[in-house]
Formats: sequence, structure tokens, C-alpha cells
Amino acid sequence: MHMDGTDPRLRFTRIPPARRIGSLLDDVRHGLLQPPRRLPAKYFYDERGAQLFEDICATEDYYPSRCEAQLLADHGQALMQAMDARHLVELGSGSSRKTRHLLQFAQPGTVYWPFDVSEHMLRESAAGLVAQWPELQVHGLVGDYHAGLDLPIPDAGRRSVLFLGGTLGNFRPDQAETFLREIRGLLRAGDTLLLGADRVKSTAVLERAYDDRDGVTAAFNLNVLRVLNRELDADFDLAGFRHRAVYNTEAQRIEMYLEAIQDQAVWIGRLDQRLHLSRGERIRTELSHKYSEASLLRLLEPAGFRIEQLLTTPAPTAYSLVLARASD
Ligand code: SAH
Ligand code: AVI
Repeated sequence: MHMDGTDPRLRFTRIPPARRIGSLLDDVRHGLLQPPRRLPAKYFYDERGAQLFEDICATEDYYPSRCEAQLLADHGQALMQAMDARHLVELGSGSSRKTRHLLQFAQPGTVYWPFDVSEHMLRESAAGLVAQWPELQVHGLVGDYHAGLDLPIPDAGRRSVLFLGGTLGNFRPDQAETFLREIRGLLRAGDTLLLGADRVKSTAVLERAYDDRDGVTAAFNLNVLRVLNRELDADFDLAGFRHRAVYNTEAQRIEMYLEAIQDQAVWIGRLDQRLHLSRGERIRTELSHKYSEASLLRLLEPAGFRIEQLLTTPAPTAYSLVLARASD
């Protein structure tokens, strides 16, 4: 379905699900009503949540975004040359702020395809890009990438998929591998994937990044309860929960939780049901996996990619950009 405005360089398409995935109601029914309680991370990103994520990126403690921006600023031109793409498809593009370090080197005729579930942020950022670069075409894709990557990109021209911000880390390893295979399915041999990946590091640095001293990550985490209140006619009291971010060294991942401060009962109108939580009980809201060079290789190679460049910021805030080429 097209949702076009008047500027021919700026278009939007809603991507219908290529396969059935659970609705918010399904996810709450299956994930929240009985332990282990959990919610998919995609529900963070309503208009307020998308802005809170931007605010997280501006904190001193959340280093991944700053490090990735630095790598893109330093290597943007060379990366664009290596990718040599007519079509740049960005998954979970958000504000596309860091992508500007690449887009400034786009050749005339390049089409940028930002794909995001957060329509408000997508529209705002896409409009800003065409206003800044008269030669750039932007075709925004509104949808959920968990429902498939059947995208309306023309056949002609080299493609590059950008998956920045460390967002692959929000997938469990088995899902990450499946998703990388789906990305490979969008590409032909010789096309590229530019992947941002946070690296394994000290627990202290990681837990600080996910529990920043300005309290922005806490507000981002709690905001998902506002989403549930609005969408499901629920009555979560945000003051009844505490933000928790724990690094699981064995699984090499940050786990974010909302922890009940006291026993409570929450009414979920759309389910006509009450959710009982005991003091200390946790709802897992996000996983954020961290990678080593070996684990990146283990994920990318079986999915049909060859690592061509691995750019990494220095310790203690190591963060990598991987340029991977689709193998034959
Ligand atoms: N790439 C940007 C934003 C990262 S935040 C950056 O590096 O700053 C993660 C982004 O992925 C958000 O914009 C969010 O709306 C989007 N997102 C999360 N789950 C998604 C899904 N299932 N389908 C499409 N976009 C999703
Ligand atoms: C988008 N994603 C990669 C972020 C992350 O680091 O896992 C989301 C985030 N959660 C808390 N802070 C940032």
C-alpha cells in the first residue's frame, strides 16, 4: 500500500506481514500472564519511546551510539565506496541520524530505504533527509521486520543492507542467525551488509550503559507500560516498578527488566483479566547481546556472509562495525 505525498523524491510504503506474527494482545497473553514474564522489545518504540531512545543515545553512559557515530564519521566515505550501492536499505532506521555520515557520500540516483515500525520517527527523519540532499531519493518502509523482508526494491542495481545501532543484539542468537539469512535473501552475491555490533566487555561498563545516571534508560524501559496502558486499556502504575539492567556473563547479554516494587494487581481491559505480580517479580523487556570477533564470525558465515572489514573502537567502550559481503 502506497502512502505517497507530493514530493516525488519522498515515498512511503506500508509493508504487509509476509507471515503471521503475534499481535500485542497475543504477546501479552502468552508472554506476560504467566512466568517467565517477558515482552518483545519492539513495543518500546511508540512516539515517546522513539524519542527516549534518541535521548539515551545522547547520554554520557550509553557509549554504543557515540562509538558507532565515530566509526561512521571516520570511515563513511570508504565504506560507501566499498558498498558501491544504488539501494541502501536500513533496518530499524530510527532517526537515521548516524546514517547521514554515509548518505552525504551517496551518488546521485541512490535510493535510501529506511524500514521501521515507528512511523512517526520514520516520516520525520525521511523528510529531513530529502530536504537536505536534493539528489537523494528516500522510500520509507513502515512495518515489522519480524514479519518478513519482502520489500519492494527494484531488481536493478547493487544493494546494501544497513543494520546499525547494535539492534541485531536484541535478537536471541538462533533468531539472529535466521534473520541474517533473511537479510542474505535480499541480497545478491557481491552485495553488502553493514552491521553495527556491540562487543563483550566489563560488566561495570555495560550495566552503566543500560542504567545511565540520567535515568533515561529507566524512563525508556518504564514507557513500555504506558504503551500497554494505552493499547490494551490497562492500568499499570509506573511508580510501582523499578528499572533493572543485568549483564549475564554466560549468555553475553544485557537483560532488562521491570521489577515490581510491591505486590500488585494490574487490570488489562482488553483481556478482561487481572495480572497479579508479587514484590520483586520481574518482567523481562529486552535482551541485548554482545559479541566477540568469534561470535560475529559464527553468526555471519553460515548465513552466507564473508567479513570484509571489522572496524572497532578502543576499550573500554569497544563497539564494531562489520562490513560483510554476500558470498556466492
Ligand atoms: N538504527 C538506529 C535506531 C536503533 S533503535 C540507531 O542506531 O540509532 C531500534 C530501532 O529499530 C527503532 O527505531 C525501532 O523502532 C526499530 N524496530 C524495533 N523493532 C522493530 C521491528 N520489529 N521492525 C521494524 N523496526 C523495528
Ligand atoms: C536498539 N537497541 C540496540 C538498543 C540496545 O542497546 O539494545 C536499545 C536500548 N535499550 C536500552 N538502551 C538502549
